[in-house]
Amino acid sequence: MSPRTERSAVAADLAWFSEERSAEVVNARIDAAIADPRLAEVARALTRHLHAFVKEVEPTHDEWLAGIRFLTDVGRMCSDWRQEFILLSDVLGVSMLVDAINSRRPSGATENTILGPFYVENPPLLPLGETICRDGKGEPLLVRGHVRDLDGRGIAGATLDVWQTNDDGFYDVQQQGLQPEMNMRGRFATDEEGAFHFRSVLPRYYPVPHDGPVGQLLAALGRHPNRAAHIHVIVSSPGFETVVTHIFEPNCPYLRDDPVFGVKDSLIGAFRRFDDADRAREAGFEGAGFFWEVEFDLVLAPIASKPGAPPLDAGRPA
Ligand SMILES: [Fe+2]
Repeated sequence: MSPRTERSAVAADLAWFSEERSAEVVNARIDAAIADPRLAEVARALTRHLHAFVKEVEPTHDEWLAGIRFLTDVGRMCSDWRQEFILLSDVLGVSMLVDAINSRRPSGATENTILGPFYVENPPLLPLGETICRDGKGEPLLVRGHVRDLDGRGIAGATLDVWQTNDDGFYDVQQQGLQPEMNMRGRFATDEEGAFHFRSVLPRYYPVPHDGPVGQLLAALGRHPNRAAHIHVIVSSPGFETVVTHIFEPNCPYLRDDPVFGVKDSLIGAFRRFDDADRAREAGFEGAGFFWEVEFDLVLAPIASKPGAPPLDAGRPA
């Protein structure tokens, strides 16, 4: 065997690192006899895309180090009450993409959006028509609608968990001791026709946490941190896929550039203002003189209709 032939044989074994074959060389080290198959699949894809990213960007050593320092700062910002990596995933649109992949539904079913970090389990169960506003701030809002199946039939006894910021743009858990406990949170059950209604206040936009490295990144990219005004809703009923979603307020100035990409056209509510004191009183807003109303139906898909997610490699050029 000549020296030339020997070198070719070694190269074929992917032993030596080269710019051209970098990802293949790294992935050839995975021992399929040891690695969990799904972990191996994820690691191969991560290596392939990461190397492609570096080859496209061609970072200098200083730029690469700046990237390492940024990710280090993101990690250092994390604590029991602050998850900067999730925030980074959010502002890069990855959280919404993961949610979209895992929430494919038949046409007509209400679309998902992200849960967000401010959900509190087991909010108080309230009678229909009750208010979730316990601090008395904000412009009165009546929220009503039906929970329906794909054929338009009302679903009786469906559960709605709802929460939003107060009129100052903060969730109760961000202002413990300042806001009443469970302010702007409640759980309701639909009636025999699948109908619900409750009182709240007009939602306000609010910033995602922007005093850390992700906020610095947004500022450096000329992006603002303000989430489009919304009401969070989780709707569930036995036999149906749970929907985690928002109802967006259409007049919010940040509707079209929500920093976490949570807005979907189908989730923008039709908010109407009624300057009618009698009607406001009938709606439960004594002395308000006016109120807002949004009617929003929530359509649930049966659990059996959930399509499967594609394999990780789907769509990748062979
Ligand atoms: Fe929110």
